[in-house]
Amino acid sequence: MERLPGFRDFYPEPLPSNENWSADVRQMIFSTWRSVAQRYGFREYDGPPLESLELFTTKSGSEIVGQLYNFTDKGNREVALRPEMTPTLARMVATQERHYKKPIKWFAIPQLFRYERQQKGRLREHFQFNADIFGENDPAADAELVALLIDTLRAFGLNHEDFVIRLSSRNAWQEFFCKRCPDESKAYEFYQIIDKMEREDPVKSDALLQALGFTLEDVKAFIAAGIPNAELQSILDNLKSRGLSEYVKIDYMVIRGLAYYTGVVFEAFDRKGEFRAIAGGGRYNNLVKLLSAGKVDLPGLGFGMGDVVLAELLKERKLLPKTEFGIRAFCLIEDETLRYASLALVQSLREKQLGIDYPLTATKGDKQFKRALELNARFTCRVERDAAGAVLVRVKNLATREEKILPPGDVATALA
Ligand code: HAM
Repeated sequence: MERLPGFRDFYPEPLPSNENWSADVRQMIFSTWRSVAQRYGFREYDGPPLESLELFTTKSGSEIVGQLYNFTDKGNREVALRPEMTPTLARMVATQERHYKKPIKWFAIPQLFRYERQQKGRLREHFQFNADIFGENDPAADAELVALLIDTLRAFGLNHEDFVIRLSSRNAWQEFFCKRCPDESKAYEFYQIIDKMEREDPVKSDALLQALGFTLEDVKAFIAAGIPNAELQSILDNLKSRGLSEYVKIDYMVIRGLAYYTGVVFEAFDRKGEFRAIAGGGRYNNLVKLLSAGKVDLPGLGFGMGDVVLAELLKERKLLPKTEFGIRAFCLIEDETLRYASLALVQSLREKQLGIDYPLTATKGDKQFKRALELNARFTCRVERDAAGAVLVRVKNLATREEKILPPGDVATALA
């Protein structure tokens, strides 16, 4: 049986081949995400991986809706695997926000599903670090999120020569749009043309823009000028005070594909432009209102960082850490009459939080020793009996070859 295309198996290290995804690396990525989020005072939340289809169809935008994994469940409900976390989060916040002090600062590490064409940096399943803030209109909140995004990437050893955050604003684009087109209902269509422009044939972009009354030349001139509007200037000043200026630039080419963004938007890219976006986000001030049918009106903003592009980039920059795996000790059982005494030792050491393994069944001595080495054990221990029949433990440090014979009660200290 083969796994589905676009899905991953995660194996423990050492990996069978360079092609495999590492469960240890995934764990390292998650714990780095968690620790930076906690440094910034974000609390962890989670939601269900399966949601009603409706949550995504009206709110996310056509591109993501086209990629939904959806089906009718046995209760005749139209459901979908979550392609992103933001609608779930906005639903959760809309329901319970009155119980939380503002601003709400929450993070999550969901697994997401999108039926995309599989390519470099794009799979049908990925994990995404999401950090979002609710209840704050001031650009100080946008700056706080951008700083968190920068510090998250820095925590993996990346610096300003590796990545840049491209900052933009839908407000700036909306102003540009309204000066030239009276029909505001066309704004999202216009944003989508801008969003695809970097990858699209310029002749096609020009034709699409002209159909809405714009020219490619005019749009390009606006992007090239790159003049920050007031909210973007405020973010730049805020980041400058933190010494983070070299990590950001104004780039109106970024507008974001998702439908719900209303203000500042941003994306993180590798400087060499070899990879797809590492992360993306922005402000969505109407989503909570939309999902609560007007009952709760709370501004929101956030970003998502996927594990796929991040892992590819870290691998390419040789920043994937050597994963430390291994146990503290392997308990050799060469004399089966000592198995129960050995199990008692194993149990007592595990209760002291030490990682211990042993042969489950009678096994030749050399095989046991090989197993200890495979498991990267720091020590071996072997239960023995002295002439009077008392239980003693022979502890060997596998690095120094030093051996000690100890009463069972002293073994934990010797191993620690
Ligand atoms: P997004 O731009 O769709 O935003 O995804 C954010 C990041 O997730 C991307 O930059 C990319 O690294 C990763 N990603 C997306 N799709 C895939 C895929 N098929 N395979 C691998 N990685 C992928 C959102 O999802 C927004 N909900 C983020 C957000 C949170 N905005 C506000 N709060």
